[in-house]
Amino acid sequence: MKFFVDTADVADIRSLAEAGLVDGVTTNPSLIAKSGRKMAEVIAEICAITEGPVSAEVTATDFQGMLAEGRFLRNIASNVCVKVPLTEAGLRTCRALSQEGTPVNVTLCFSPAQALLAAKAGATFISPFVGRLDDISTDGMSLIADIVQIYRNYPNLKTEVLVASVRHPIHLVQSAKLGAHVATLPPSVIRQLLKHPLTEAGLSAFLADWAKTGQSIL
Ligand code: E4P
Repeated sequence: MKFFVDTADVADIRSLAEAGLVDGVTTNPSLIAKSGRKMAEVIAEICAITEGPVSAEVTATDFQGMLAEGRFLRNIASNVCVKVPLTEAGLRTCRALSQEGTPVNVTLCFSPAQALLAAKAGATFISPFVGRLDDISTDGMSLIADIVQIYRNYPNLKTEVLVASVRHPIHLVQSAKLGAHVATLPPSVIRQLLKHPLTEAGLSAFLADWAKTGQSIL
């Protein structure tokens, strides 16, 4: 399973990449706004940190506007993946950009039928938002199960399931058990994955016993 980082914070991406935990990056207009930086600059910097796909989202809502923005974003770096919303214009843009050889991430997916449409439009990734479904008392993980099953039924569909709006480690573990291809995780969730109280307690005990020996390895 691939791990993408869901942030536009360059320092966080760099430190996680150095630990080998970044297979790609996803951003959205809200994350770019939070960074307080110019979008083209921040996307270029992120693309230099990772060789994996870096999703950069269009903000136009009409086909011509999305296409022009998508082409502009794609020109920033060879690993830019253009992100479009799951609307009719977004799917049309997805088809056009995919035919040009540009990878496309179709975002804001909340139903299996939407995911099927995105795959038929040639999406490289479909981004179902599990956390936002949980927020409205709907089981986000059922959506992942449905999409994975549907895509498996039609091996000609090459779209990868990119689990988005991940809020905690359980979302990640359940997505992996279901066979989702990718999860995009906020840096805080990636760091939560590392933690286990028995790991911390075990390490403290080992170090305390080691100190008693008076030895040093080097
Ligand atoms: C990723 O592509 C999405 O934009 C992101 O995961 C949304 O997460 P949120 O629901 O926590 O804003």
